[in-house]
Amino acid sequence: MSQVSKDFFFDGMVLPVTVYLKMKVDHYLILGNKGEKSKFSNFQSYKNAHSSVYVAILDLPILINYVTTMTEKAVQHKTLPDGLKARFMVGLASNALQCFDKKGFASLVELQRVSNMVLGLGKTVSNFNDILNILRDLKEEEAKYAMATSMVSVMLCEEMDVNLKGAVEKVALGALLIDIGLRYLPKALLERPRHLWSPADNALYETHPAKGVEMLRDLKDVSSDVLLIVAEHHENAIGTGFPKRVRDLKISPLSRIVIVASYYTSLIFNSRSEGVAYDSDQAISYMNDILGQPFNKQVFLGLKNIINRAHLQKKMGQAV
Ligand SMILES: [Fe+2]
Repeated sequence: MSQVSKDFFFDGMVLPVTVYLKMKVDHYLILGNKGEKSKFSNFQSYKNAHSSVYVAILDLPILINYVTTMTEKAVQHKTLPDGLKARFMVGLASNALQCFDKKGFASLVELQRVSNMVLGLGKTVSNFNDILNILRDLKEEEAKYAMATSMVSVMLCEEMDVNLKGAVEKVALGALLIDIGLRYLPKALLERPRHLWSPADNALYETHPAKGVEMLRDLKDVSSDVLLIVAEHHENAIGTGFPKRVRDLKISPLSRIVIVASYYTSLIFNSRSEGVAYDSDQAISYMNDILGQPFNKQVFLGLKNIINRAHLQKKMGQAV
């Protein structure tokens, strides 16, 4: 059985798979059968915040695919009611979940907890509606990448015990927004493989962090920490990033986290490696051996710890 997010379900949806409520170890109650309309809110124990919902492992891809497809359809409408916007975020999260689960980044349960936290941003960020509108205007692949980067960033915060008030929310939000400046770059450039870029193309690409910051300045209530994350997300610890080529100490602590998360995620999502999508171990090797580990040491160690723990959990799961 696989635990899944309650956010996937709403009353009245036709269930694409059979869904269970976990009662105790190895005991499940059927909440709804495949093809039935969901009426989960009638179940008292479902409403309990601690109750968890499961589907058969083989049904998980079907459920995720269903939620994603439904969400993508909804997103094509320009004027979305808030509920659908929320579901748009759930769709992005489910896509990222599916990808990371395959790549050995972290256990599905852990990822779901983190994705719920990112989705919960709507409750803490006053202008979340504006943020959602911005994300909705990104290309689908970019929006998925943003959500995935946000999830990895949140896990890194937890791994590194970053718990200053509001810090995790700022990291999650900043990571969602890092690439919004890309929309100002010519589509033809972004579609061309990077090895074909001219120096002028590279220079143009390097303007996207500043363009993102400019755009966010027009919104009310975006904190300066979030703006810094967007501005610095392509810098690195040894000063070979862009646009300012500053070194580790000059980079904000929250940006250091998002820098590692976004590089790792881009390797996993195949947005940097041109034709090769890496699994977690390959991404770590690439960042360490090929790039020479140009990232903040503690954050990179945190990433390795998360991945090693996922390996261990998988081994223990297989041994049971
Ligand atoms: Fe970027």
